[in-house]
Amino acid sequence: MTFDPAALRTREYGWMASDPAIYLNAASTGPMPARAVAVADEWSRLRARPHQIPLTLMFEAAATARRQFAQLVGADVEEIALMTNTTYGLNLAARALPLRPGVILTFDGEFPSCVYPFQAMRSRGISLELVPRKDGLPDEDTLVAAIARPDVVAVVISWVQFASGFVADLERIGNACRANGVFFIVDGIQGCGVRPLNLHALPVDIFASGAQKWQLSPWGTGFVYVRRELVQQLEPLDVGWACMRASTDYARLTDYEFDFFPDARRFEVVTIPYHDFAVANASTAMLLEIGVEAVAAHIASLVGEVIDWVGTRPDMSLVTPADPARRAGVVSFAPADPAATSARLHVAQVAHVLREGAIRLSPHCYNTRDEIRAVTQLLDAETPP
Ligand SMILES: Cc1ncc(COP(=O)(O)O)c(C=O)c1O
Repeated sequence: MTFDPAALRTREYGWMASDPAIYLNAASTGPMPARAVAVADEWSRLRARPHQIPLTLMFEAAATARRQFAQLVGADVEEIALMTNTTYGLNLAARALPLRPGVILTFDGEFPSCVYPFQAMRSRGISLELVPRKDGLPDEDTLVAAIARPDVVAVVISWVQFASGFVADLERIGNACRANGVFFIVDGIQGCGVRPLNLHALPVDIFASGAQKWQLSPWGTGFVYVRRELVQQLEPLDVGWACMRASTDYARLTDYEFDFFPDARRFEVVTIPYHDFAVANASTAMLLEIGVEAVAAHIASLVGEVIDWVGTRPDMSLVTPADPARRAGVVSFAPADPAATSARLHVAQVAHVLREGAIRLSPHCYNTRDEIRAVTQLLDAETPP
């Protein structure tokens, strides 16, 4: 299928034609497409009469979610556990990986999900070290050099940084980790669904992502990928009935057979929000139908438009790298007075955020070049260069 952004916008985001807002904030919360809203309505109706929801429908929703998430990131379904957010997957890494005492490296400037779970490991003799920024961005060279240190046991970083939009070179960092026997953990939420990814071709051990942003899905949906060879090595972080093989057979729950699922379902502890995963399935199916490559190309051209415009404004500095290999859907720029610019955008109903002293825009498949131009023209009109 060829991706036609205008047709998609009409079909899945019809409200955008009459709403004066310009939605440029997928990096915070991705708007659900119409087909996902329809599934949410349908499941709400069913949920009001739970006898209309057979177990098979619930299990099918979960199985589809695992299968589609696996497809999205180039993994096998046995390597995917459904999670309600990114952080839970990162906690699994922090607490279940067989880490000896030592140092975990991350970049200064990471979203706290890559920080707190790893700062909490002091009692195991493990400390978190922040690699300082260089020119405001992650310093990959210094990180890669530090990985060779004998005290380093793991690296945790986000694939795409939440504030700057910097895209890490997972292959390079992962190869350095592999060469030194260091675990590589990735927070994927700011890239997952809008940047092509083939985890099987990458030296990544654990990859966690919530689906509420770029995957255009409900809050409380997401997944963790655990590399096949590690699945059975990791002792589940929390242990619940849903980790066990017996949980699929409600007739023998009280056999108490202590036997984890052999695949990544062993990390799914509790009853998952089936309703929300059914909705996420509709959104993920849409992204897979369009194709992540096509979505990425569309977003890259919109981000490129912003980057070109920042280049015309001597009073603004670009925070996001201009190199297409180092950027995804987040584009951030720092005006002279960020708070005043942000206030202007709010008045004009341009959904954006102010992060780390910069304006962050995050366009997705439904945004148009005209919308980007409307934003740049607005800022040019009110603050001429
Ligand atoms: C890089 C990054 N990681 C994690 C999160 C959120 O984590 P969670 O899905 O656990 O709420 C965000 C944004 O909210 C983020 O930007």
